[in-house]
Formats: sequence, C-alpha cells, structure tokens
Amino acid sequence: MTLDIKKLFAERVKCVRVLVVGDLMLDRYWFGDVHRISPEAPVPVVKIDRVDDRLGGAGNVARNLSVLGAGVSLLSVIGNDEPGRALQRLLSEEGVDASLYEDLNFDTIVKLRVIGRQQQLLRIDFEKAPSAAILKTKLAEFRQRVLDCDVVIISDYGKGGVTHVAEMIQLARNAGKPVLVDPKGDDYGKYAGANVITPNRSELRQVVGNWSSEVELERKARQLRDDLRIDALLLTRSEEGMTVFSGSPSVAIPAQIREVFDVSGAGDTVIAVLGLILALGIDVVDACRVANVGAGIVVGKLGTAVVTPEELCAAFESLYGR
Ligand SMILES: Nc1ncnc2c1ncn2[C@@H]1O[C@H](COP(=O)(O)OP(=O)(O)OP(=O)(O)O)[C@@H](O)[C@H]1O
Ligand SMILES: [Mg+2]
Repeated sequence: MTLDIKKLFAERVKCVRVLVVGDLMLDRYWFGDVHRISPEAPVPVVKIDRVDDRLGGAGNVARNLSVLGAGVSLLSVIGNDEPGRALQRLLSEEGVDASLYEDLNFDTIVKLRVIGRQQQLLRIDFEKAPSAAILKTKLAEFRQRVLDCDVVIISDYGKGGVTHVAEMIQLARNAGKPVLVDPKGDDYGKYAGANVITPNRSELRQVVGNWSSEVELERKARQLRDDLRIDALLLTRSEEGMTVFSGSPSVAIPAQIREVFDVSGAGDTVIAVLGLILALGIDVVDACRVANVGAGIVVGKLGTAVVTPEELCAAFESLYGR
C-alpha cells in the first residue's frame, strides 16, 4: 500500500472540516457500592459515590474526529435540562463547534447506567422524539453549514433526530460534499444517494434479511447498494472485521485480533475515521482499512472510546508498512 498515513495526519488532517448531524446522547454512569438489599423490594441499594458523563451517539463521532485533529461542527437537538447543559460543556471541552437546538418539549437523550461493584445493575433510558418545528430549523442551518464543510457524517441512532435525512443527503450532494450515513431501522430508502453507509450485521439483516453464505450476502449487499445508488456499503462485522462492497469484487478486511475490553462506540470510530480519510480524497477501500485499524484500537481500550493520530499511524504502519 502506498498510503503515507503519517504525512496525511501531519499535514492535511487539520484542514479537514467535518459536519456531523444526528442523534446526540449523554452516556452517564453512576458508580457506587452495594451493601444491602432494599427493604422495599428485592433489589440492591447502591450508594452512589462517582458520576461519569460521556458524549454518546453523534457526540461520540464528533469527539473521535476532534481527537484525530479535524475541524468538527455538530448539529443536533437537546432539551432545556441539566443533561443538555452537560453535553454542551463536554462538546466545548472537546473543541467541537456545536450548534444545539434547545427544544422545550424534548428531554435530552440520556442512557444512565447504574454500576455497583463493577457490575452494571440497571440501564435507564430517557428519550423522546424532537419536535418537527425544531427539526425544520435545524435543516435550515444544515443548508448553510454544508457549504463550509468537506464531508458530512449522519449518525442515525433511530431517535428521531434525523427525520430530514433524505433532504440533507440531497443538499450535501448538490453542494458536491460526500455523505456517510450510520443507518438504523428497516427502511433505508431515505439514505438513497448517500456515498457510503456503514451498517453493522444486525442493522443490515434488518433490511435485507438473513444470509447463510458469503455468496448470498454479496448478492444482497450489492442489490441494496444498487437500489440506493450508493458508492460503497461498508458492513462492520465486529470480531469478523469488515467487508466493503464498492466496485466488484467485495473486499474483506480482517479484525485486528487483540484483547477486547469495550466494544461499544467502535461503530462511531469507524465512521469518523472513514469520513476523515475519504475527505482527503483517499480511495474507499484504503480508507476502510484505516478505519478498521482505528476501531481495533478503540475496542482494546477501557472507557475512552477514541484513538489518537499517533496510535492510529503507528498501528497502521506496523500492519501495512509504508
Ligand atoms: N471483538 C472485536 N474484535 C476486534 N475488532 C472488533 C471487535 N468488535 C468490533 N471490532 C472492530 O470495530 C468495528 C465495528 O464494530 P461493530 O461491527 O461491532 O460496529 P457497531 O455494532 O456499529 O458498534 P457500536 O454500535 O457498538 O459502536 C469492526 O469492523 C472491527 O473493526
Ligand atoms: Mg453502530
């Protein structure tokens, strides 16, 4: 491979401007100790002594990009509440130019995990779909912001924050900007015309049904790609790595075998790295190889689901040489 990744990161990445749109959420952890069972019900009582807040969903994609050195703006919706303010603060700490619409009738999406003695006891989700009026305002801002970016990443977590995804793709394409989508749900018609979609195995199964062989998968993936007029379908396959369906034939990229600590957020790293490298004009298969290396590093880390440019460059060069 002739990709000089160190040079890309040293010279060009800082000039890339990425626009991230999508479902923003707060990953909140309550840590505590369990000493007794509640007298009210047969459940443990957790005495909380530490709280940890992290950017989730589109926020985690933006954070990954910022750590890699790109310029990032994020367009999303929050409620007029404490978790919304926590998200604002985390994004500004990460250097993300966030434009968050406050919807008075919306609760900021929070995934709250209660952890007692290293063990997750409960997860509590707060979520509500944002109002149509707010989303319309957001679309109007997208129309402006798309002109100032090099690539658009749409992070759809199925929470209702990207109802106008079809219009966004159209606007981006009309402006000549590549669009990548991390999809959700059973109707991918709305993603038609995007350049790249990055479903995982269960997301792809939801739209094309199950497959019993690689041949059948190839046929189904190609059909979907043709139907949606997309350039590349990147199937992420957890411990099996990934498969890129772009030109024929498809390309399988094996997972980096390492000790796995925390797989959550790997998909966010994949789309962040892929979008960044594609914005530099690199071929999609090479860009997927870089994204696969990035995701492999992230799953080997506990907690901080991001990869630094130094880690990414070192791992990529040791695998593919220069
Ligand atoms: N167990 C694993 N071992 C090695 N690599 C992994 C593992 N799980 C994930 N990866 C890497 O991360 C990439 C994305 O993982 P996956 O297909 O699970 O995405 P995802 O389901 O969208 O993740 P999430 O939604 O949790 O962020 C894979 O293509 C692979 O490179
Ligand atoms: Mg995912």
